[in-house]
Amino acid sequence: MNVAIRYFSKLGHTKDIAMAMAEELGVKAISIVDEPSLAEAYDLLFLGGAPYANIMDSKLSHYAKELDPTKVKKVILFTTSNWSRRTVYALRKTLKEKGIEVEKEYFYAHMLNIKNRIPEAKKFVRKFVSGE
Ligand SMILES: Cc1cc2nc3c(=O)[nH]c(=O)nc-3n(C[C@H](O)[C@H](O)[C@H](O)COP(=O)(O)O)c2cc1C
Repeated sequence: MNVAIRYFSKLGHTKDIAMAMAEELGVKAISIVDEPSLAEAYDLLFLGGAPYANIMDSKLSHYAKELDPTKVKKVILFTTSNWSRRTVYALRKTLKEKGIEVEKEYFYAHMLNIKNRIPEAKKFVRKFVSGE
């Protein structure tokens, strides 16, 4: 199974979760700032972000809007925040409108609890990607 992990992170919390997921799956986690569009096609894309004053960064919303539906079979979302899950809801809406399948489960970590949530983040991704 061809898996990608992409994220947008300003303060590093979402990045920490993405890196843990990447370590578990043996793939790279890449910031959408460094790679603004997918270079190849994937079966599964883990996509993460966070809210800043209630909305995700425009780079991430742009990334979702421009995501090529022929390059991803399914997206699984993850987010970190102080309380809001809004990033997940907004990304899900955009992706579904584009005809991209989005897994109903998503991973959430509170910004003050990132370290403790690392094992759960790893377990979460492993559930969707069988060991090969
Ligand atoms: C300027 C600013 C605004 C924020 N606004 C919200 C918000 O509206 N709702 C919320 O739940 N968290 C809010 N947060 C918390 C961030 O979403 C949280 O720290 C998140 O983990 C940041 O992700 P990152 O470290 O990957 O950038 C805000 C943080 C900052 C710095």
